[in-house]
Amino acid sequence: MEYIEVTGGQVLSGCIRPAAAKNSVLPLLAATLLCGKPCTLLAVPRLRDVDTSLALLKAVGADAKREGENILTRPTASVTGTVPPELAGAMRGSVFYLAPLLTRAGRAELALPGGCRLGPRPIDIHLAGLTAMGAQAELRQDRVILRCHGVLRGTEFALRLPSVGATLTLMMAACCAAGTTVLRGAACEPEIADTAAFLNACGARIAGAGTSTLRIRGTGGDLLGGCCHTVLPDRIAASTYAAATAIAGGRVTVEGCPPRYLAAFLDFLGAAGCSVVRGSGRFTVSRCPARPLKGGQDLVASAYPGLATDAAPLAAAVLLGADGPSRIYDGLFQNRFACAAGFAALGAGAQAEGRLLRLAGGAELHGGTVTAPDLRGGAALVLAGLGAKGTVRVADAGHIRRGYAHLAQDLAGLGAQCRSLTEDASEE
Ligand code: EPU
Repeated sequence: MEYIEVTGGQVLSGCIRPAAAKNSVLPLLAATLLCGKPCTLLAVPRLRDVDTSLALLKAVGADAKREGENILTRPTASVTGTVPPELAGAMRGSVFYLAPLLTRAGRAELALPGGCRLGPRPIDIHLAGLTAMGAQAELRQDRVILRCHGVLRGTEFALRLPSVGATLTLMMAACCAAGTTVLRGAACEPEIADTAAFLNACGARIAGAGTSTLRIRGTGGDLLGGCCHTVLPDRIAASTYAAATAIAGGRVTVEGCPPRYLAAFLDFLGAAGCSVVRGSGRFTVSRCPARPLKGGQDLVASAYPGLATDAAPLAAAVLLGADGPSRIYDGLFQNRFACAAGFAALGAGAQAEGRLLRLAGGAELHGGTVTAPDLRGGAALVLAGLGAKGTVRVADAGHIRRGYAHLAQDLAGLGAQCRSLTEDASEE
């Protein structure tokens, strides 16, 4: 068991640079299967989901390894279309392998990512789009099997909702298909534009990534080339450092991350009473610890450029001690606020009713042991600890390592009293 322990009361200061975005790295690693030449992804953080992706790539016959901070991939003559179930089940990101395996092996067999802690996570849009491109999909109770005789063919496809994963799947499938694919109603998240930039640098012809309409001219079956790519910064990690400053008070500059990637979150912090100064590729958040944050916030998490669903629990942590009640509604996931139980155990008025989280505000949090229910909910509990009188221990912190390589060390570097521990309570 891993824990993160945080003792509140320290004001934060300094500069921090977020690592490369997990939600870009995962599709990028899958996309390297489409490449017939070596690829390098620079400065990839040591996250659990990245390790799972490297194991998955190896299991299907690809050649991908770490070299220092970077990941290098080399093309292999053939790959197998079957993903071992234990790897498919270990992360939602395994769904990114459907299109590359179908392209490379003519077959993709994947244990269903299924419902997870955030609520049901169907893959019907991925399958409908791939079927429209000529694949046959067989849905069994526990897995999906896709087959394709010959090359996938370009098509016009409208997504029934702007799914990030399905947009990535269909964009990747279209790169080596025959003819042109037009995707309408696509997700616009920056991680999609980043994956498209990588694929285009490898020779793909994707236009419109980052907007709701993508046009992709396929290679007709040829693999792409290779490239060296610097991954986009992690806007959710950047939001986490900003939220930490709002809760603890102080002044922190986040570098290497354009503020437009988290504009809605920074707007929220401004409305809650923080000072936010936006620069080019950096921003500074400050708050006087003596002045309470402003409650009365009514937030809705939605697709980009709205408030990110992954940042909704972080916003909740900010509002726990604000001077009035607030509400946050998550339009994407049914069970985004499983962290409410942990907030309440620390003394906050926090109640999740399905997609809605009600916060009473005015909480004086005390110490205690709580459990990370999921990645972002776990990070939010650590953040809540920054504002507690006493020591908060967040158990099951392995969830947090799926998305933050060193959250405790990052916060400690800004002046927080925070450390990570393993089961026998020895410091890592
Ligand atoms: N959906 C469907 N059918 C589909 C696909 C999605 O109904 O075929 C629904 C989902 O059930 C959900 C909504 O559409 O209710 C949005 O899902 P989306 O496909 O956009 O999300 P995702 O691709 O599964 C990625 C990130 C999530 C992030 C969401 C939204 C990765 C590995 N995951 O998930 O990140 O919350 O986009 O931005 O990229 C995290 O990092 O902690 C995380 C959960």
